[in-house]
Amino acid sequence: MTTTELPANFPAPAPAAKHWAIDPGLVPLNHGSFGACPPAVLDAQRRHVDLMERDTVTFFVEHASRLLDRSRDAIAPLLGCDAADLVFVPNATQGVHAALHNMGLAPGDELLITSHEYPACLHNCQAICERTGATLVIAELPWPVPNADALVEAVVSRLTGRTRACMISGVTSPSAIAMPLDELCPALRARGVEILLDAAHGVGFAPHHLARWDVAWATGNAHKWLCSPKGSAWLYVRRDLQPAFRPPILSNSAPTRDAVARTAGRSAFHVEFDYVGTRDITPFLAIADAAEFLASVAGSVGAYMDHNRDLAIAGRAAICQRLGLEPPVPDACTGAIAAVALPAGRAAGDLKQALFDRWRIQVPIWEARDAPEGMIGVGHTPVLRVSANYYNAIGQYEYLAGALGAELGRSSCH
Ligand SMILES: Cc1ncc(COP(=O)(O)O)c(C=O)c1O
Repeated sequence: MTTTELPANFPAPAPAAKHWAIDPGLVPLNHGSFGACPPAVLDAQRRHVDLMERDTVTFFVEHASRLLDRSRDAIAPLLGCDAADLVFVPNATQGVHAALHNMGLAPGDELLITSHEYPACLHNCQAICERTGATLVIAELPWPVPNADALVEAVVSRLTGRTRACMISGVTSPSAIAMPLDELCPALRARGVEILLDAAHGVGFAPHHLARWDVAWATGNAHKWLCSPKGSAWLYVRRDLQPAFRPPILSNSAPTRDAVARTAGRSAFHVEFDYVGTRDITPFLAIADAAEFLASVAGSVGAYMDHNRDLAIAGRAAICQRLGLEPPVPDACTGAIAAVALPAGRAAGDLKQALFDRWRIQVPIWEARDAPEGMIGVGHTPVLRVSANYYNAIGQYEYLAGALGAELGRSSCH
């Protein structure tokens, strides 16, 4: 579809869309899946690549750790932790994998997760339990969600004396529930349970307080809501656990990491994770540039996060009002992604495709049967999830609401 063939009421994005390179013939309401990196940040990454290729040896031996520290320093305040406790990994899936492999699970232990975990993380939990003889326990989250207390209760009620650790999503992927971490983390820690926080949407999505929440491990992407290049994610490990924490892939310094660390004046944790074989670390280096970019566009990363959350809630309200639905998740548990439970009657895949083909709307819709084996899923009707970023405008959600009204009406006529 060319821009001249777009529907007459095709909505304009926000003026800030000029900072992104998103197809103007698209209504992009799925930032949450893969993010979107602005050209200014890609230019900054390009400058890191140029520095690397001018003298690769000096770059990796002398510049790399200093430039990685710059990115650590940029996100540590947004994560509520010390920069010393952060390393970089390519994505949250690999961060979860590294944490699970360092958990020390043993036969008889229980690993608790919820019924709304992201499939890749679920699969890694299943695999580590099979390998170690631990038992995977799944707490079913309420759907729709009545309030934050019900979420805490759903998780805490599945704890036993054998629960070794609990993996929680900061915001659940299929249902967009921003978990009440201020209440849930202390409840788990009071019972001696270690926390693995899957903060995949993490930095740039909502303020995090990793140290205050006393999580053992946390990981999240910068390539989603901080808008850094793809393949840029962070991994946090609590200080007391770092000496024994090893990367799943060992590199040159593995047997001598403590001595190397002493000589370099760095921690063994940084020494091992900062160099995991030769690879392109420029997506990690551009994390600092992405944080600077968002602050320059929105005033601060905090203002950017507040704006996105408010827009997601307003966008969801526009859709619910048009379709006569109640939001399935209270505003208090909603961030920059928001779910709508659609009426039954039209297959999720078919509706999603029609929204893309006829209306040029990019938005995810899934249903219970999409849920991977072993998961309870999100009810029995399709769930649509909108994202809201600085480039979006409220008119785009109103347009989606109209398109949904037309498509759902169309299906009920047949
Ligand atoms: C809750 C959650 N965990 C993990 C991931 C995996 O992120 P990545 O594909 O960057 O590893 C996602 C991706 O959307 C997610 O939403």
